[in-house]
Amino acid sequence: MQVEAHRGPIEQLDVQALAVAVFKKEKADEGFLKKLDELSGGLVSSALEAEEFAGKEGETAYFHLLGNDKLKAKRLLLIGVGDPSDYKNAQVSQMAGTAVRSLRSKNVKTIAVVPRAHGDAAQAASAAVEGAHIAVFDPDKYRTVEKEEKKIDRLVLSIEGAEEDSLQRGVNAGKIIGEAVNFTRDLANEPGAYMTPTDMAERAREIANEFGLSLDVLDEARMEQEGMGSLLSVARGSDQPAKLIILKYTPKNPVPNTGELLSFVGKGVTFDSGGISLKPGENMELMKYDMTGGATVLGAMRAIAQLKPPIPILGVAPCTENLPSGKATKPGDVVKAMTGKTIEIINTDAEGRLILADAIAYAKKLGATKVIDMATLTGAVSIALGDVNAAVLGTDQDLIDEIIAAGREVGEKYWQLPLDKEYSKQIKSDIADIKNVGGRKAGTITAAAFLKEFADGISWAHLDIAGTAWGDEAKPYRSKGPTGIAVRTLLRIVDRASQQK
Ligand code: BES
Ligand code: ZN
Ligand code: ZN
Repeated sequence: MQVEAHRGPIEQLDVQALAVAVFKKEKADEGFLKKLDELSGGLVSSALEAEEFAGKEGETAYFHLLGNDKLKAKRLLLIGVGDPSDYKNAQVSQMAGTAVRSLRSKNVKTIAVVPRAHGDAAQAASAAVEGAHIAVFDPDKYRTVEKEEKKIDRLVLSIEGAEEDSLQRGVNAGKIIGEAVNFTRDLANEPGAYMTPTDMAERAREIANEFGLSLDVLDEARMEQEGMGSLLSVARGSDQPAKLIILKYTPKNPVPNTGELLSFVGKGVTFDSGGISLKPGENMELMKYDMTGGATVLGAMRAIAQLKPPIPILGVAPCTENLPSGKATKPGDVVKAMTGKTIEIINTDAEGRLILADAIAYAKKLGATKVIDMATLTGAVSIALGDVNAAVLGTDQDLIDEIIAAGREVGEKYWQLPLDKEYSKQIKSDIADIKNVGGRKAGTITAAAFLKEFADGISWAHLDIAGTAWGDEAKPYRSKGPTGIAVRTLLRIVDRASQQK
């Protein structure tokens, strides 16, 4: 899909279809809609008068413009976007995504999207282009028969009166960010057999080579040298060797060094069977997406390498399978993490926290001062927050507030859960320093309390994306399957941190 920007009047748009945002209760006899109504030969006012369409969020109305010579486009799609005061970049992105998926299904090849965004043109353009890219991802990579082949070839983003420079900058950034989100979704969607820890390291190498990042991949021998007994204990049951992927972005023209190193750490369990504490069979196939946190780190670093912010960023992805075998770690075993802490393994299915413990410790060793980790960590987060909000917890309230604010700007929702020290009592062990599960109560919180043990001395926040990383149903602006949650939030945080400096 080729994307270009346009800032002139809409009648000149030389495409097959126009997709236009319409606000709730907007009138067809004033402002922009009046003009559109005239250009469309009265179709807009007729749809509004018939109460077929009222601009409510999610509503659409579709017309063929027969015998019309005022517009070059011969089809018109109105997309309701609700209240103007609630129409922010997150909604702009969804509007563009809805336009793309809806018109693609009607076999339109060239479209113009008129999001009618107010505010910063570069950011609005980026949001729209992100949404358009995210909309074209489909999870049916391995379908060979009756595959839907409809494709949009050309998309024109039309923001009337915008400054050329800002518009172009936004379109460029939107492409980079949208492609990064789809990169992460593609990895999460791959079957476990095609996305082993070695495959993930290979993808990281491709990113590093193509876009210019430094890469280090620790194999099991090096993990052994570093004393990463916690990470290694998860890998023990698998024939696939674990990999600890380190990607580093260093700016050419850094802002004066504040000594800060922002770091992203993501859980990369390429298949989670539960290990000896084997999971039930139902839905186990979905455990291929248990590496989404790691894929999020790779996707974000891929975009960062192209967006070139003025601050350094470290990305860490511990990758392993979690399988049962005669060599696998057993409940009751005690392992020693890189920090020297001893851990009693109560349940081998609580493996994500075990690999993150050593990954966070290693990020600290590499100089990380601020760590955001993301992980499909607990089923409990789906019970608490469903698929609407991801959970955020941590030790630095400013960082948590920053994540929530950045998420709101890009349309990714986070809800903070508490992390009082009382919860840490639940992970005390009789035989070792701590144990890897804290009982039935507050499962998402006790998982975070476990991670907190390895995040002392730094600013740290944790995102539990187990409920939000996979969509069971398609939305008008996105397919079902991997959602790519958190990639855009991380990139927004990097952008906001770059502005502040
Ligand atoms: N990968 C799972 C969590 C998960 C569940 C992710 C559903 C996505 C969808 C994690 O490793 C796990 O199994 N957690 C256990 C922890 C328990 C044993 C304390 C869980 O949530 O049941
Ligand atoms: Zn598990
Ligand atoms: Zn898991």
